[in-house]
Amino acid sequence: MWKYIWIPLLMSLEIISIAKPQSTIYLPTDSSVSVMTSTCPSPDPSLNYRPIIGIVSHPGDGASGRLSNATNASYIAASYVKFVESAGARVIPLIYNEPLSNLQTKLNLVNGVLFTGGWSKSGLYFDVIERIFKQVLKKNDAGEHFPLLAICLGFELLTMIISKNNNILEDFSASDQASTLQFMKNINIEETLFQRFPPDLIAKLSTECLVMQNHKYGVSPETFLGNTELCSFFKILTTSTDQNNKVYVSTVQSESYPVTAVQWHPEKNAFEWGSSVIPHSDDAIQVTQHAANFFISEARKSFNRPPTEDVLANLIYNYSPTYCGTAGKGYDEVYIFSETEKIARL
Ligand SMILES: *[C@@H]1O[C@H](CO)[C@@H](O)[C@H](O)[C@H]1NC(C)=O
Ligand SMILES: *[C@@H]1O[C@H](CO)[C@@H](O)[C@H](O)[C@H]1NC(C)=O
Repeated sequence: MWKYIWIPLLMSLEIISIAKPQSTIYLPTDSSVSVMTSTCPSPDPSLNYRPIIGIVSHPGDGASGRLSNATNASYIAASYVKFVESAGARVIPLIYNEPLSNLQTKLNLVNGVLFTGGWSKSGLYFDVIERIFKQVLKKNDAGEHFPLLAICLGFELLTMIISKNNNILEDFSASDQASTLQFMKNINIEETLFQRFPPDLIAKLSTECLVMQNHKYGVSPETFLGNTELCSFFKILTTSTDQNNKVYVSTVQSESYPVTAVQWHPEKNAFEWGSSVIPHSDDAIQVTQHAANFFISEARKSFNRPPTEDVLANLIYNYSPTYCGTAGKGYDEVYIFSETEKIARL
């Protein structure tokens, strides 16, 4: 039977290839191209092509003591660093328990800040996050474009700080769960985290579980909209539902400041492997990439150009990440900051 099918099939393939429009790629050495002028555009002087992002470290070792029990230890999961690097920026760690003067110096070396996930909602860590958030607003008020991306715990802390209510968070069951994002009606995605997402990906976000959630707290749209401070600072872009079908706010964007907060984890899709639930499909990886590209494109608008030597001395490349993925849970790699680590480095 096959030989009867093959002939017409080959014929039709032939027809298709003949019908295909011919396209020619001219290489610079091609003699048919006589004049090939350079089209490298000159850099846009209003943009900073060497953006630096400050990531605030979180208390602990990120591995429940498996890596370090030092009381002073804090960590940054390497996935946040890779997220930033993948979009063309470098990272300076803002070690939360450093003396405030060091933190202030480092904050003046960066073009934007990222608040990570974690669990700490009080004490020094909370105070430092609040202080840095106020600095972010101050820098923007002074005319500098200085973006902030707050992820998961970062979202929750901003919710507490802006609402001026430390009890505003509600319980949700969204631990280790991939979810959809439901877009609010009539929102304009221009100048939001989603601005670079192609329309088909935006559509898939609302029907396919393309984002990773891992939180026990959150804020319902009712609570959010019921708080004057919150809804005058942030516009809700998306909501998601937890394992009990309870709806929570999952993406917010400030209208007056380049401040974005997400309850989900844009960095995990491409860079974390410890949970089998994390989406790794082609679409899911694009979510990570478009989110990173948006954040770093905002940081390129910052005109802060600190001295190179100061930047190099403080980059995260002065530290080495530790692989902890063999335990099969938590983060794959973390940067740990502790007194002993610092001494070893000097
Ligand atoms: C930290 O303490 C725990 C409990 O005592 C222990 O099991 C673990 O091995 C310690 N971690 C390190 C890195 O020493
Ligand atoms: C580490 O802890 C000690 C006391 O336990 C404190 O005095 C010191 O400032 C801490 N260092 C950092 C970097 O937090």
